[in-house]
This record gives sequence, structure tokens and C-alpha cells, in this order.
Amino acid sequence: MAERPVATLNKPDAALELTLRPSLFSEFTGQPKVKERLEIAVAAATQRGEAIDHILLNGPPGLGKTTLANIIAKAMGTNLKSTSGPTIEKAADLAGLLTNLEAGDVLFIDEIHRLQKTIEEYLYPAMEDFKLDIIIDQGPNARSVRLNLPRFTLIGATTRSGLLTAPLLTRFAVRERLDYYVAEDLQKIVLRSARLLNVEVEEDGAFEIARRSRGTPRIANNLLRRVRDYAQVRHDGRITREVADRALAMLEIDQNGLDEMDKRILEAIIVKFGGGPVGVSSLAVAVGEESDTLEEVYEPYLIMEGYLKRTPQGRVATELSYTKLGIKPTGGNQSRLF
Ligand SMILES: Nc1ncnc2c1ncn2[C@@H]1O[C@H](COP(=O)(O)OP(=O)(O)OP(=O)(O)O)[C@@H](O)[C@H]1O
Ligand SMILES: [Mg+2]
Repeated sequence: MAERPVATLNKPDAALELTLRPSLFSEFTGQPKVKERLEIAVAAATQRGEAIDHILLNGPPGLGKTTLANIIAKAMGTNLKSTSGPTIEKAADLAGLLTNLEAGDVLFIDEIHRLQKTIEEYLYPAMEDFKLDIIIDQGPNARSVRLNLPRFTLIGATTRSGLLTAPLLTRFAVRERLDYYVAEDLQKIVLRSARLLNVEVEEDGAFEIARRSRGTPRIANNLLRRVRDYAQVRHDGRITREVADRALAMLEIDQNGLDEMDKRILEAIIVKFGGGPVGVSSLAVAVGEESDTLEEVYEPYLIMEGYLKRTPQGRVATELSYTKLGIKPTGGNQSRLF
């Protein structure tokens, strides 16, 4: 299978993310509306001396959900305990987490859409009334015990809010969606990261990286490191626009920020499925990727940029995709699109 450089570029690198992750609202670039609403919620709760309402953060990978959860906890001056949906296997795991919280603490549940339904049901009264009813013992001795919980804040993060059940969704008083970043904001993020990593980068060089990072801070940071390597080995270490452009070309990231995999997806729809519509699972098999990854990582960006359309019958390639791949649309399925 061909190499897929950018697929790995949106995988978190734990050490790097810790160094570059902003810890204050003032260092968090972009997402102005979301940031303002969260800052106000934090300030209001602090003034009242209360825990902040439960918050759901939704959006594609690498846009800053975990970062914001940490910023909120820090701004509230409380601890953040972190877990993720799939790791909570039994009600007892949840009970353990909740009973270890102190008043005002933040419990961060990443990938909350992957929480089991039975666990979710324990979470409802915990979120609403700060009570947890658990069954202890088995058989004839089984009995329900009610535990009182401290007033905590649940921050849930998800890449797929559509998979959350209505009762869970409605228990989050604050629901925010993060969108892809504009290039100007990503440029600021690249410049900040370069400063922290001691990389010499010109404004133009930073912009070139920003504009080809699929609107995603994590990708921008990862590309910055790859471009830095190139600048160091092939040049004098300084990232100019030209150096960035050459490095990105070497990484097979095109002028619009699309990578190998993006193009493979568009090509499959056009060549193998006559332009679509094609269901996501057939498409996933055709490109050798998981359906979930297609839906969470690749599609949202391709749709936003106008390469793909999602219809009730399946995915359809747009005219832009044909232009991008230099293929002429031919009658049949596609003709009605143009
Ligand atoms: N607004 C921002 N300003 C500066 N850096 C940011 C911003 N948002 C994200 N980053 C950077 O991008 C990295 C990835 O962000 P984060 O881990 O918060 O994404 P996420 O939405 O939780 O992703 P996932 O869905 O994969 O968990 C962070 O380590 C941070 O360095
Ligand atoms: Mg995260």
C-alpha cells in the first residue's frame, strides 16, 4: 500500500502536544465565538462560586477539544480528571471516577459517543441530580445504593455528536461545535509553535504551512516539524515560503492541502463508482480505510471544501473533484450535477 503521510499527521504526538498545547484562553487562537461563550460561562460560574455547567465539545480531530477542556479547568482553578468513552467498561468504573471527584472538579470524557448505553444511563442522574444509583451484590442480596456526588462538571468531547442519544445531548447545558480554522489563525498558531520549538520561520513560510493544513491546528503543528526537518537538512534551517512549498510537495501535500488519501477517495468515487452515489462502507473498502475514519477525518474537510456531497443515496463527487483530478465528467450519473 502506498505511503500516506498526512493520515499520520492527524494522529496526536503526546509529547509534542503537551509542549504546544495552549493552557490559557488568551493563548488559544481562533474559534472566536466559541471562545467568547466559554470564557463568559467560566467567568459567570466563578463569580457565583459555582461549578460550571456540563459542556459538550464537538468537532473533527485536532481542532482543540482536549485543549479547551484543559483551559476551562485551569481557568476555574479546578482539577481535570480525564478518561474516555471506550475505557469505561462497567458501572463500577464510572462510580470509581465520580466518587473520586471533589466539588467543582472537571471530569473529561473523550470520545463520549463511544460510551456504552448502560453506562450512559448511570450518567443521567449523575449529571442532573449529582446522584448515582448503583447495584451492589448479586442475586437475592442485590440492592441499590444511592451515592451523593460532589457538584462536578462533565466535559464531553466527540467527533460524532450525531451518534449521541437525545437524553445525553440534552443534559449538556453548553454545546459547542469547533469548525476548521481559517488560514490566518493557523498561521498565528504556526508562528507561536515555531517560537516554542525554536524554529526560524518567515511569515510567508508560516502562511504556506497554515494554508495547506486542512484547517487543523494539529496538522499545522505536525507539518511545521516535518518542514523544519527539510529546512534543516536541505537548506540553512530557515523556513521561507519557498522552502515550505518544496517540503510540502515532497510530503505530497498539494496546493489545497489535500493528501494522498484524500485524492484516493475522490478517485475511487469517480473511477470505481462512476462519480457516485456510493455508500460509505463500499468506499471504505475501495480505499482500504475504516468507515469511521473516512467519516470522522476525511469527509468533513472534503465536504466543507466542496469536493464531496453527502446525499441520502451516498457520497457524490462534485465538479471540483473532477477538475482536481483532471478527469472529464462523462454522462451517466454525474451529468445531473452540472
Ligand atoms: N486554538 C488553538 N491554538 C493553538 N494551538 C491549538 C489550538 N487548538 C489546537 N491546538 C493544537 O493542536 C493540538 C491538538 O488539539 P487537541 O488535542 O485539543 O485536539 P482535539 O480536538 O482534542 O483532537 P481529538 O479529537 O483527536 O482528540 C494541541 O496539542 C495544540 O497544540
Ligand atoms: Mg482530544
